Amino acid sequence: VIEFAPAEMRRFRQACAQFATGVTAVTARAGDGELAALTANSFTSVSLDPPLVLVCVGVGMSAFEPLSRADRMAIHVLTAGQEEVARRLATSGLDGAGRLHGLDWEPDAAGTPVIADSAARIAGPIVERVAAGDHEIFLVGAETIEIAEGFPRVLVFHRTDFATTQAMAA
Ligand SMILES: Cc1cc2nc3c(=O)[nH]c(=O)nc-3n(C[C@H](O)[C@H](O)[C@H](O)COP(=O)(O)O)c2cc1C
Repeated sequence: VIEFAPAEMRRFRQACAQFATGVTAVTARAGDGELAALTANSFTSVSLDPPLVLVCVGVGMSAFEPLSRADRMAIHVLTAGQEEVARRLATSGLDGAGRLHGLDWEPDAAGTPVIADSAARIAGPIVERVAAGDHEIFLVGAETIEIAEGFPRVLVFHRTDFATTQAMAA
């Protein structure tokens, strides 16, 4: 096991932060009805057949506990216009319901919160969870897929800032 001093940990974070990503909003509803919501840039498509995606969630994150009690998850790819959603779902001191309060969302047929107007949404069962250091990898089956019309520009995260893509044609 590699153990970094704080300075090396900072360099590791900076190295990883050079990798530009999209930004997703992850939502779920635990069995008792508690909502979970967080911003995540650790989204990755994993497998085409069967269709699987993953997201990594820190075990110390407030959203981790309700997420770990849910059996389904929705992952929304955020548009350039949804920076406010990204900031709200990353706000410490708010639970899932508090983060979602005032946003345009509704529960889907399974009760999972669905946020309106994302660039794409993938929802389905949490098929596996893999412990990985201070995070857990949630593997999600892509049961439901929604894609926005008109190829909206999407939100980008690079180093410590939000950015957006230029308009791209199909
Ligand atoms: C752009 C961005 C990407 C993030 N990606 C992740 C991620 O992939 N996994 C994760 O566990 N937290 C991620 N976070 C942090 C959570 O969204 C949230 O801010 C964090 O859990 C702090 O909330 P808490 O104090 O209630 O735990 C990200 C935050 C931002 C702003």
